[in-house]
Amino acid sequence: MIKGGNTPEIIPIHLFDQGILMPYTILPLTVTDPDMIAMIDHAVNGDKIIGVVAESPSGARYSVGTAAGIMKLYRFPGDVVRVTLKGLYRFRIIEDMEIDNVASARVERLSTTFPDDVDELEAWRRSIEIQLRKIMELTPGIPDELQLITLLRDPERLGFVAASGLEAPVFRKQTFLEEDSIILRFRLLRSMMNYEIQRLKLREHIEGQVRMEMEQDQKEYYLKEKMKVIQKELGGASINPDVVELSEKLAKKELPESAATAAEEELKRLSKLHPGSPEAGVARSYIEWILQLPWMDRTEDRLDINEAGRILNEDHYDLKDVKEMVLEFLAVRKLNPTGKAPIICFVGPPGVGKTSMGRSIARALGRKFIRLSLGGVHDEAEIRGHRKTYIGAMPGRIIQGLKEAGTSNPVFMLDEIDKIGRDFRGDPTSALLEVLDPEQNFSFRDNYLSTPFDLSFVKFITTANTLDTIPGPLRDRMEIIRIPGYTENDKFEIARRYLVKRQVERTGLSGKLIRFRESGLRCIVKRYTREAGVRELERSIGAICRKCAVKAASGDLRMVTITEKSVPDYLGSWKYTRESSLAEPAVGVATGLAWTAVGGEILMIETLLLPGSGKLILTGQLGDVMKESAQAALSWIRSNRSDLRHDPAEFDIHIHVPAGATPKDGPSAGVAIAASILSALSEKPVQNRTAVTGEITLRGMVLPVGGVKEKVLGALSAGIEKVLLPVENMRDLEDVPEDQRNAMEFVPISEIGQALDHLIIWSE
Ligand SMILES: Nc1ncnc2c1ncn2[C@@H]1O[C@H](COP(=O)(O)OP(=O)(O)O)[C@@H](O)[C@H]1O
Ligand SMILES: [Mg+2]
Repeated sequence: MIKGGNTPEIIPIHLFDQGILMPYTILPLTVTDPDMIAMIDHAVNGDKIIGVVAESPSGARYSVGTAAGIMKLYRFPGDVVRVTLKGLYRFRIIEDMEIDNVASARVERLSTTFPDDVDELEAWRRSIEIQLRKIMELTPGIPDELQLITLLRDPERLGFVAASGLEAPVFRKQTFLEEDSIILRFRLLRSMMNYEIQRLKLREHIEGQVRMEMEQDQKEYYLKEKMKVIQKELGGASINPDVVELSEKLAKKELPESAATAAEEELKRLSKLHPGSPEAGVARSYIEWILQLPWMDRTEDRLDINEAGRILNEDHYDLKDVKEMVLEFLAVRKLNPTGKAPIICFVGPPGVGKTSMGRSIARALGRKFIRLSLGGVHDEAEIRGHRKTYIGAMPGRIIQGLKEAGTSNPVFMLDEIDKIGRDFRGDPTSALLEVLDPEQNFSFRDNYLSTPFDLSFVKFITTANTLDTIPGPLRDRMEIIRIPGYTENDKFEIARRYLVKRQVERTGLSGKLIRFRESGLRCIVKRYTREAGVRELERSIGAICRKCAVKAASGDLRMVTITEKSVPDYLGSWKYTRESSLAEPAVGVATGLAWTAVGGEILMIETLLLPGSGKLILTGQLGDVMKESAQAALSWIRSNRSDLRHDPAEFDIHIHVPAGATPKDGPSAGVAIAASILSALSEKPVQNRTAVTGEITLRGMVLPVGGVKEKVLGALSAGIEKVLLPVENMRDLEDVPEDQRNAMEFVPISEIGQALDHLIIWSE
């Protein structure tokens, strides 16, 4: 380091016009002036000290300055010198002189006076330090090394360094430099610092103000400019205030890129239209639709499987398969949140809880529930909407449903998908295919929106009464879950545990005023309802509750108990009497089993021989398939039995199946019809407590049939003790609850002769 270690009397003097060099601070200079370079050379060869003195604002030279040591020196080609000076001590000029053509002066080193009280000095030091920190807080982007000055322990040094960094006028800093007393110096410093703090605070305040005003100005300016442009385009007509409002709303709404673009384009269009025009209305409602749809809003799934299970059980009795499937879905989702779940289709007769199960699933998942009934929808536009260019056009029902849900991941039930219609207006199936296809539905295109909407977060559930009328491709897309219908006992349990409570609450009755006895509920199930589900049952219970509520409201507050005996008081006389098995075996009457939408029941198949010529007469609303199986039964008997008492060719054979209001069809009564005909022709009675189901072939084989569970349950409640089943159907008995299964005998049959031997009582 090149640095003067002494305090020479005569030093070169540099007149500095850019501030004050304080002791302990550094001043880098780049010098090109030849006189100055000469001075530096002179100093380097001598004491290595240069006196730096400032110029006053009026152009005069101060007489007190700072002696600086030369710390670094670089010479660059072309007479450029870079020098770093460091302030060492203060001096006063006593006499100017010139030495070797270098401006110099005889100087006197100035010393600092310190107070006697060390504590006073320390107090000052602290207060300066605090103010310094304040200034640093108010000065954004202050370099870290500057922060370090507050760590300076030497009070004199701290004062010089702090004063050097302040933005104060030269004359103030000079006064500071000239002061010998450190306390007075600190006073000056403090007032400079206060001034600086005020200045910084004011700046901060003003900047805030200015920023705010700028933003306001900019916005207004922007809007004004926009309106000017619009007005120009309109040729001076007034602007639509909707444009401003909608554009503000759009700015706030979270939208996918494509939707935002579509809305902005429409907004542009709207701004050019006359506010009252129908087109403006169309454009406005389009933008409003975009604003109202839950593009990015989703609810959080409840992934607590125990809790979900509890909710499902709270809402529905039994339906184990369905509940398990839902919990499985949850478990899979928990492990693999983005995986595609299959679309479930609940298939079953009315009133078995398909729709309400959907609602319950939504509740278990913690999602919104939306239901769209597809019954009677036969126009693709109902699903997908109309192009917005139509006046009064709207998005389709899918998008409408999502708006109603307010989230983009609801449970969305497409109810009664089997009732969807197809006609000249178009086929909604293709639109539904797109909705339900996980490969496509992330960009579902509604005609009205015309920009894709992501349906991939929606959990779709569909329902149907039957699979037969669902178009194949649609059916293939879904996982079918059958809800077959309830037994009488199930219905009783559902009524007892769920329906009564619900209906009592709905009518505002208290459970203390009305009580349903088991006998009462069972009577309603048996005598007032005929259904696979529980809708009529729920309605009947509701009707009783309402009648009691009326009584209660009129002041007659007696507690009511609903028993088998009192049910008719509320619901009138029995609506249904069950077909029940005959008390005794009869000739020409065989017991078949049928399966209808309302569950299983027995069919009495009667055959009467009338003198004639071998014609077959069928009555009792029998379908074609059933007629064909009667024909097959008769043919088999004619070709296989030689032991008949009557020759079928001499009689017309009249087959009748009573309880004619219900249409009956299907091939499954084949064996029973054969038994009925054979019994009539042989004049041997048929077992009255044995029922049979099974299709026959002309070669006498017995083929399997459907609906075994319902048929068996129907047979049991009609008083049947033994059921003949096609061999292949024996495994269906697993579906029959054990209690009921144990209450009956089952005999597997594979060919007709074997069945007939079980049914006809030959000994009589
Ligand atoms: N297993 C069950 N447990 C409790 N309530 C049921 C059950 N099954 C059906 N319900 C009730 O029966 C009524 C009809 O059900 P719903 O969902 O409309 O049948 P679906 O849609 O199959 O025609 C609803 O009030 C429903 O809650
Ligand atoms: Mg339903």
